[in-house]
Amino acid sequence: MKRLTLIFCALALLLLGGCAPYVRQTPEEETTLITVGFSQVGAESDWRVANTESMRESLSEENGFELLFDNARQKQENQFKAIRTFIQQDVDYIVLAPVTETGWESVLEEARAANIPVIIVDRQVEVNDTTLFTSWVGSDFRKTADEAVAWLAEALDARAETDTDVQILHLQGTPGSTAQLQRSAALEAGAFKHQSWTIAAQLNGDFTQAKAYEETRAYLANNPVPDVVYCENDNMCFGVMQAMDELGIAYGEGGVTLITFDAVHRALSYCKDGKIDLCAECNPLHGPRVRAIIEQLERGETPEKRSYLSEQLFMKDRITDELLESRIY
Ligand code: AHR
Repeated sequence: MKRLTLIFCALALLLLGGCAPYVRQTPEEETTLITVGFSQVGAESDWRVANTESMRESLSEENGFELLFDNARQKQENQFKAIRTFIQQDVDYIVLAPVTETGWESVLEEARAANIPVIIVDRQVEVNDTTLFTSWVGSDFRKTADEAVAWLAEALDARAETDTDVQILHLQGTPGSTAQLQRSAALEAGAFKHQSWTIAAQLNGDFTQAKAYEETRAYLANNPVPDVVYCENDNMCFGVMQAMDELGIAYGEGGVTLITFDAVHRALSYCKDGKIDLCAECNPLHGPRVRAIIEQLERGETPEKRSYLSEQLFMKDRITDELLESRIY
């Protein structure tokens, strides 16, 4: 295993006057850091910023790491460049948060040829040969999204709206990302199962507030107000709320039902205030797991191939002041 070795030497010293030349040296002090190249998707959402922070905190110098960070600005080609640079820099590990699922074989082969283990975080990579990556850490996107869709069915039932026509506006994240594919698949399966549900439109908000705002504003200017908006992340939900505020459309309790994913602090407080109906959690705190995986590998152990973080659904009555205080992102 390669290591970055920093050698701090104390220097030679002085001698003056009529004394005989004398050099005093401190013993050579060696500090070994594990170098990790991290290719991050971008900074598109509050969730992503928290994810970066978690990684920086866990893979810090105090913990024995040197972290080389690259922000891909939501572009896969930037991730290819970053990984190739990490390979040239001869890092010990590569951590990849892939923007989309496909297209990774060649670059992962290159990392393998260089003998650098790759740990995938958050979204998945679709590769036939799963030995191309060492381990993966993230969310069970489909499970949480199925739970959110089941919550919607129950909520409509409770309002005796099961058989009335339900128009759903669907704000989608980056096309081809696991978070988009699985959250979309869960809603589409729900609409297939419930005949009264119609997905009125699918808009690409790219997981950002600005794009979701623009798309929703334009959509609502020419279309009827939906009954439900299903947002594939919190920042897109904030964009939807912004558009609805401008158009004077009521949402949350007594208005359009809002469902969102991530459950960052801001979304949870809106939910507590009755402005968002459901926050489905997606945990961004991957840093401690990634650190533990690297430490396992350093000890020669084999980490779990996939580890899922535990997550839950939050409705108004589940959001306490303690929860909000403890939510660090
Ligand atoms: O892949 C996780 C998703 O990506 C989060 O839901 C979203 O906020 C982020 O941008």
